[in-house]
Amino acid sequence: MAETAGEIGSKSGGCPVSGHGGSGCPVSELAANFDAFEGPYQVDPAEALRWSRDQLPVFYSPKLGYWIVSRYDDIKAVFRDNILFSPKNVLEKISPAIPEAMEVLKGYGYAMNRTMVNEDEPAHMERRRALIGHFLPENLAANQEMIRRLTREKVDAFIDCGRVDLVDAMLYEVPLNVALHFLGVPEDEIAVLRNFSLAHSVNTWGKPTPEKQIEVAHSVGKFWQYAGSVIEKMKAEPDGRGWMHETIRKNAEIPDVVPDSYVHSMMMAIIVAAHETTSLASANMFKTLLSHREAWDDICADPSLIPNAVEECLRYAGSIVAWRRQTTGPARVGDVDLPEGAKLLIVQASANQDERHFEDGDTFDIYRDNAVDHLTFGYGAHQCMGKNIGRMEMRIFLEEVTRRLPHLRLAEQEFSYLPNTSFRGPDHLWVEWDSSENPERRDPGLLDRTLEFPVGAPARKDIARRIRVTGVQTVADRIVQLTVEDAHGRALPNWSPGAHIELCLGGYDRKYSLCGAPGENAYTVAVLREDEGRGGSRYIHDTVKPGMEIRMRGPHNLFRLDEDAEHYLLVAGGIGITPILAMADRLKALGKPYQLHYAGRSRAAMAFVDRAARDHGAALSVHAREDGARMDLPGLVGALPEGGRIYACGPERMITALEDLTSGLPEGTLRFEHFSSHNTGLDPEKEQAFEAELSDSGLTVQVAADQTLLDAIRAAGIDVASDCCEGLCGSCEVQVLDGDVDHRDVVLSRSERAENNRMMACCSRAKNGGRLRLGL
Ligand code: FES
Repeated sequence: MAETAGEIGSKSGGCPVSGHGGSGCPVSELAANFDAFEGPYQVDPAEALRWSRDQLPVFYSPKLGYWIVSRYDDIKAVFRDNILFSPKNVLEKISPAIPEAMEVLKGYGYAMNRTMVNEDEPAHMERRRALIGHFLPENLAANQEMIRRLTREKVDAFIDCGRVDLVDAMLYEVPLNVALHFLGVPEDEIAVLRNFSLAHSVNTWGKPTPEKQIEVAHSVGKFWQYAGSVIEKMKAEPDGRGWMHETIRKNAEIPDVVPDSYVHSMMMAIIVAAHETTSLASANMFKTLLSHREAWDDICADPSLIPNAVEECLRYAGSIVAWRRQTTGPARVGDVDLPEGAKLLIVQASANQDERHFEDGDTFDIYRDNAVDHLTFGYGAHQCMGKNIGRMEMRIFLEEVTRRLPHLRLAEQEFSYLPNTSFRGPDHLWVEWDSSENPERRDPGLLDRTLEFPVGAPARKDIARRIRVTGVQTVADRIVQLTVEDAHGRALPNWSPGAHIELCLGGYDRKYSLCGAPGENAYTVAVLREDEGRGGSRYIHDTVKPGMEIRMRGPHNLFRLDEDAEHYLLVAGGIGITPILAMADRLKALGKPYQLHYAGRSRAAMAFVDRAARDHGAALSVHAREDGARMDLPGLVGALPEGGRIYACGPERMITALEDLTSGLPEGTLRFEHFSSHNTGLDPEKEQAFEAELSDSGLTVQVAADQTLLDAIRAAGIDVASDCCEGLCGSCEVQVLDGDVDHRDVVLSRSERAENNRMMACCSRAKNGGRLRLGL
């Protein structure tokens, strides 16, 4: 529903939408009644806004005086444009302060200024560039040892207790110590800082009573003075280490970019930002995992799952629930027009469970392979600089605790939370265990078996679940069919025709299309033995037996069937029948007209011919070369009715022929999937370096001749998903805004390449060493 907002409503609740006086929203009482400080939003913000995601994704809340934005795409679009959607209100008090509290703050000389989170351009990016060095992945790895030492000291202190509040015993203090260490701030006043930072949160994002406001104002004022005194101490150590020392040095070197007022405000803001969010996120993580026992047990059994489990916890129960923006001109979010000056509460907790982006978004699944897309760290130029150190801490906490206390469980308790709009995590988290069962009592060597994780977003290759092979059957010459189930007997994720899984065994990772029936609690794939291949199929043929446990990634679907066409031509060459057969099954079930053409060397070498004949008899044509039956591709394409679609999977020459034949047909007529790519890595002798501007992040990266664009982007601290890293899967696709691309993937069709608006960052490059501008 399109709305045109007139004057912004007053804080007291006038409706901002012309002609709809007072109700707060022309269509919904739910919008009028939305309360960010009480009720469902404080209990479960994502669930509280489910109605909004479904019915009214952008609405005005008269109680808060803000526009609430709840869908993933809308929130990402707001983050992307930090000029039209200014961050200037991020640290504004969300509840107006009483004059007495303002007086108290004045008495302490409180003069909080803009900091990194609420600065506008161009000042923001200039400072961010000047100060980002410590946060880059290459400079963070050195912190792992310190984090592990601090974590271990805490776990050592409570390992024999059998019951502990994890927040008090570890999750508050370790992130604070890490933050102080990282910043280079003395660690002598931890207890004081805890009160200070709580006061800062209540002051900025809470709704304190008048009495509480006075109390909080005193704490905030003292925090301000404390931050000032620490800066003075630090100035006396010109060679001091840590990010705040670096900021102080930059203040001396480039005072116009990093001025005095900035240093003081930043000191106060970053002490909170650097640890409070990690503490809360870590408490949420343990609570979530211990409430989903299967996930906890899987991690205990296989700690390589930790990086993605952390990401899924950040998605499902992140510590940053909502952030703020203010329009600097007339703007449109979703299909709602907003006036200049409109204040927005963009609810990341809601975006993170938006079904439009995350399948089964309200289900917690540590094997979810797009968990890393969550918006808990924000997105774009203002994305959290400390995200990788936060991830690092959460991974080490989880690794140490799952290894040493796999029998940990949540104790009976009532959880309490600090009421506010934006941060969320339990005040306490009581856990218990039988300390006589601690594994290290029987196995002291356990303490030394730590796992290191690379810095940054998790790699998709680490997101693998255990499955058991339940059937191995020869279905044609050199082709075996494997049937697999979850190793724990749990339900496997649902899949759709065109999806594939990746089997990981014997050091090989190989993708195979699913060809059973969606909805069954087992997956079926067919594997062609390729004696001239790289060894994966030979290994499977020679070693896989029923009962064997292996690992699997996926399912992923990069070859989706568009179910809206009027007619379908399905073309399979050899083992390419597997996704095509699943599509034919689906089209038959939908009652859509389709033809299935299946070509191969000989009937004996073609899998599932009998099954295809049984299920698709009238629609099926088999073209076996040994019978002299060749597929007439020009004839088939020529006979395709208008609006028809072609889905093809098979050898490259077949796909190339179809691309040629369909080049004059409407975009999207041909969809195909390749078996392999030609990417064999970079040859620096032949490659050229180039430059890529990341427009959403305000960064420019240099891509060396021996480096992929994907690696260069990640080195700058920007997360981009990836999977195959050879141009096959499409998961590293990035938006191209400007510049000519040398496409080297096999994902994009010729016409998609010609559009020049997207590229695969793992393999494609700028043409002739030119410059690219990317929507990242
Ligand atoms: Fe698969 Fe780039 S990671 S195409």
